[in-house]
Amino acid sequence: MSTLRIIAGSANPELAGTVANYLGAEPTNTLLERFPDGELLPTVENVSGSDVYIVQPTPPPVNDHLAELLLLLDACQRARAARITAVVPYLGYARQDRRTRAGQAVGVAVFTRAIAAAGAHRLVVVDPHTPTLEAISPIPVETLTAVPTLAQEIALSERVVVAPDEGAVKLAERYAAISPNPLAMVRKRRESGTEVTALELIGELRGRLPVIVDDMITTGATIETALGLLKLHEAAPDVTVAATHGVFVHGALGRLHRLGLRHVLITDTIAHRSLHPEFQVCSIAPVLAEAIAAMHNDKPLHAPASTAWNLA
Ligand code: R5P
Repeated sequence: MSTLRIIAGSANPELAGTVANYLGAEPTNTLLERFPDGELLPTVENVSGSDVYIVQPTPPPVNDHLAELLLLLDACQRARAARITAVVPYLGYARQDRRTRAGQAVGVAVFTRAIAAAGAHRLVVVDPHTPTLEAISPIPVETLTAVPTLAQEIALSERVVVAPDEGAVKLAERYAAISPNPLAMVRKRRESGTEVTALELIGELRGRLPVIVDDMITTGATIETALGLLKLHEAAPDVTVAATHGVFVHGALGRLHRLGLRHVLITDTIAHRSLHPEFQVCSIAPVLAEAIAAMHNDKPLHAPASTAWNLA
């Protein structure tokens, strides 16, 4: 069997290191040169004939992290790695999975093609925004989920699971597969990259404890808007938020802090240096390590759970 190698991109070396530790894999040295004009040049060592997993999420600056991922893939391919897997726990551009206006690009199609062209045989993601990723990508996609990891930190049986938009309903179903509690959903309209309008709340929240679940928090607009609607519908004020990816741009951390939330759960798909005390980071490393071990041994991966949902 070929040697297992974990390569850490610069986006989240801590996560890559933790995954390597779980697997008992020797860290593989890479050198990343940055030139004054912004160009990157990675060098990888000892990957010839190996089963290589490049761990590189693509949070902001998304284009830099994507370029680095593509260069690392190319470097491994040219160094004759036997098999190359792009482990991209947070995949940027996943919200661009269709044209909403004539003349637009479909970012996720462009970048999955680029990942394949640069040398990846397979792509691993965690709770990607688009459910159509597998169909869009020219290479097989292994979709992992952070839901059981986050759910075990929430007293789910006491809470109504709230999807803050229609796109989050499938994710909410996964939480509901763990708890038999009913669900609720917010209908929202996105006005711009930083603003959303809540249209209606579907479900009964009066006096009940909510947990808002989403794949990602970017500016915090979706959470703030959902929270406003929950207040209007007299939900209990102790609201928990659980999101797989804490992208946190445009002052999102301060915005969420000012909302007075008691508990905001995220994972470490994206690294953060300092967070307010109400934030709890749950590591996705065991989930990634289990999946990599299965792939390395050519074993099947566990399929993420899903279920039908009944409305609150
Ligand atoms: C969009 O549909 C996603 O699932 C999230 O709800 C959204 O990206 C969050 O962005 P923001 O925090 O800027 O509202």
